[in-house]
Amino acid sequence: LFEPSSSAPNRLTVELGPRSYEIEVVSGLVREFGPFARRALERSWTGSSCRRALIVTDSNLADLSIPAPYQAALESVGIAAETAVVPPGEPSKSLAQVERLYDQLAARGADRHTLLVALGGGVVGDLAGFVAATFTRGLPLIMVPTSLLAQVDSSVGGKVGINHRSAKNLIGAFYQPLGVWIDTESLVTLPDREFRAGLAEVVKYGVIAIEPFFSFLEQNAGTILARSPQALEKVIFGSCGIKAHVVARDEREEGDLRATLNFGHTIAHAIETVAGYDGPFRHGEAVAIGMVAESRLAERLGWITSDVTDRLVRLLEGFGLPVKAPGLDLPSLKHAMSRDKKNRLGKIRFVLPRWIGQVELTDSPGEDDVQAILETL
Ligand code: GLY
Repeated sequence: LFEPSSSAPNRLTVELGPRSYEIEVVSGLVREFGPFARRALERSWTGSSCRRALIVTDSNLADLSIPAPYQAALESVGIAAETAVVPPGEPSKSLAQVERLYDQLAARGADRHTLLVALGGGVVGDLAGFVAATFTRGLPLIMVPTSLLAQVDSSVGGKVGINHRSAKNLIGAFYQPLGVWIDTESLVTLPDREFRAGLAEVVKYGVIAIEPFFSFLEQNAGTILARSPQALEKVIFGSCGIKAHVVARDEREEGDLRATLNFGHTIAHAIETVAGYDGPFRHGEAVAIGMVAESRLAERLGWITSDVTDRLVRLLEGFGLPVKAPGLDLPSLKHAMSRDKKNRLGKIRFVLPRWIGQVELTDSPGEDDVQAILETL
């Protein structure tokens, strides 16, 4: 397991040379966010010249007055912050919302030393991150993810972007933040379904990288579901530690390593495309179903025995996640998979388990294998 070091018990570093940054995990310490942001800025190229910030958030969080203490925390370190509110949900990852945020930045005379804070779930992080990557060719960016999914996945690693009408996340950039601030308290009020969906990505980390992390999840499922702050900190440290390790070695997915974060996602993306992004499955739920299907695919190739998949199914079901998606149109699923970003030379590539703790990117499955697995969805 990735444990924090004793000298900095709440921190992990994403090691990227001059673009390295810290992930800090706290439980209810918003006022400390100001000094965290100041330190992150001072370590970066912007130095000590930041005086202004724009906090991008969604209307659900704004209605709960979540941005106010972050604004106050920034003001306590000499950064005057304003808030920009976008509608909640996937449709906000659009050029129209990007343009609105550009307009707000321009109207406020933002320059390259204006800090952008992405306060929200994955949609806000991806959208605000994209604006940060492009406005004046790069604003300092700090991620404050508030959903479990964003805390363990999308806020770390620098993938930012928006959707195109033909595909999700088609337009984007690799743009690393200066820091990631994670407060487990924001999970207390997260709707149950959203919390469980985030756990699918957590389970994924166990399968792709560290068997003891998977065992930890099995042994502590009850306290995790009860959202005990200690259990949540371990879940977040474990997940972010694995993600940071992968991103540090293959930042721009140029090798095969970062692609391993896509275990379960080839089929998950196809399910989301066919069922609709605002359809019956949340992203994490589609990932749970996709991981089980891809594990069965590994069984077909003789890579693993069925007890591996059974163990995965037990853990996912214990977290209340679906493991099946019956009734989807097979040709549409196959068509969606043929457009996966991981594909090479016309072949669909999958990330499949060798055992719990090790996966491999492969194009070995034949059409009949894929067909057989989709029939079991
Ligand atoms: N969510 C996959 C990645 O960040 O590469």
